Amino acid sequence: MRQVKVLGLLGTGVIGGGWAARALHLGIDVVAMDAKPQMESWIRGAVENARAALSRLTLAPLPPEGKLTFTTDLEVMARQVDFIQENIPEQIELKQRVLAQASRVAPADVVIASSTSGLLPSDLQRDMQAPERLLVAHPFNPVYLLPLVELVGGRATSAAALDAAARFYTEIGMHPLRVRREVPGHLTDRLQEALWREILHLVNDGVASTGELDDAIVYGPGLRWAGMGTNLIYHLAGGEAGMRHMLRQFGPCLKWPWTKLEAPELTEALIDRMVEGTQAQAKGRSIRELERLRDEYLLATQQVLKQFDLGAGATLRALEERLYERSGRSAVPGLDAASAGAGGPVRMLDTYVRPEWIDYNGHMSDSRYLQVFGDATDALFRWAGVDDAYRKTGRAMYTLESHVQHVAEAKALEPISVATQVVELDAKRVRLHHSLHRRRDEAVIATGTQLYIHVDTRGGHAAPFEPSVHERLEGLRGAHAASPS
Ligand SMILES: NC(=O)c1ccc[n+]([C@@H]2O[C@H](COP(=O)([O-])OP(=O)(O)OC[C@H]3O[C@@H](n4cnc5c(N)ncnc54)[C@H](O)[C@@H]3O)[C@@H](O)[C@H]2O)c1
Repeated sequence: MRQVKVLGLLGTGVIGGGWAARALHLGIDVVAMDAKPQMESWIRGAVENARAALSRLTLAPLPPEGKLTFTTDLEVMARQVDFIQENIPEQIELKQRVLAQASRVAPADVVIASSTSGLLPSDLQRDMQAPERLLVAHPFNPVYLLPLVELVGGRATSAAALDAAARFYTEIGMHPLRVRREVPGHLTDRLQEALWREILHLVNDGVASTGELDDAIVYGPGLRWAGMGTNLIYHLAGGEAGMRHMLRQFGPCLKWPWTKLEAPELTEALIDRMVEGTQAQAKGRSIRELERLRDEYLLATQQVLKQFDLGAGATLRALEERLYERSGRSAVPGLDAASAGAGGPVRMLDTYVRPEWIDYNGHMSDSRYLQVFGDATDALFRWAGVDDAYRKTGRAMYTLESHVQHVAEAKALEPISVATQVVELDAKRVRLHHSLHRRRDEAVIATGTQLYIHVDTRGGHAAPFEPSVHERLEGLRGAHAASPS
């Protein structure tokens, strides 16, 4: 199966648009195909709308944004992509026909994944060529912010296709959840539908409004679910004896039962109640406004969960770690050469001025200078051995001082690079000098000097470098001193 550089989208509605935004943001090119030509402007708008939230997901160094192209010709798309994500309407015959058509054009090592909310992969792969590369990869709206993707194989699906898909989704910051066996509705939609059936009953029976039922989740269970899910939270509800006591205490309720299995009849009166209820909750806010609000708190929630390394926060943390590592890797040959005596500042970072970094003067904002210098520092420290594993042992580098001198303008989309030297080093401290260059003519845009201290984070005090780290930094310092910038 292929390394995914170009993602093909089959259907570019709500879900296709979300896939496009996520993939482009993480440096994957996208060829989007939809039967309706007017969907081109729609998908471009959807990618633009997602940018506001995505640009604040992480400060880690991102690869250059991917390129988006659009076509109404399925074969043009299927011929040039490494992976296809199908997002056309939830109709089995339509999906079977279109997936079969795509499979006749896309080479057999191109994985084809369906976003279907509940159809079975064995049914979808029925008429396909090389059906072993078909799987269900069910995402959640908004795809660009929610990391969950359920992976389900059908009877013909190969382990290689599932593995390749899991690798790709992990690469674009997602949490692939492998479903052991295909069942209608997969896992999450089964759970969501059970809750939704109860909501419809309670509204139908006049027990509660839609707003009251949302309050019943938002002020309580919803907050708990984001970090621990239902089962682990119930384990806590049983006190010291955990789940066993919880089942003894509340198990009998399952026999009464509190809930209903069958959904109520969707009568016009029930539909009206649901619509009127949610309109009242919206309080005149448009869908766009509510989407922006949802995106804001989904972002903030993931940032908070990141501190606890829980759920979606753990996924975000792992993505950031990969982004820092990938960015740092490109500097390694230069650092190795310098420490071996080649000298001179080492090019630590190649990036470009992202549009969201621009201030009201049309220039890169002040805080972004520190960000790119910080990314260069991170790459250098990683090479010296101060990486995630090292930090987990209770040692880290803290910043003591930063001085930035601005020399020229950095405008939107301008390719830039940072070169770094070790200028001072003692047992606990290291001083770095950075210069930020415009790549087109190598002109210096800014310089920066930063002083860092090595810290024992558990003890909360400065501590000497690990000898191997000091040795690597000393190698660079010596080489840089011999060859001034
Ligand atoms: N909306 C959700 O919350 C959600 C969540 C997860 C998964 N899904 C699944 O994703 C899929 C798409 O859902 P959606 O909400 O994006 O639908 P949508 O109606 O917004 O988009 C479907 C798109 O497919 C296009 N299309 C229709 N026939 C086509 C064809 N033959 N070839 C190419 N394009 C074609 C349509 O023009 C449309 O743009 C469904 O299978 C759905 O179950 C939806």
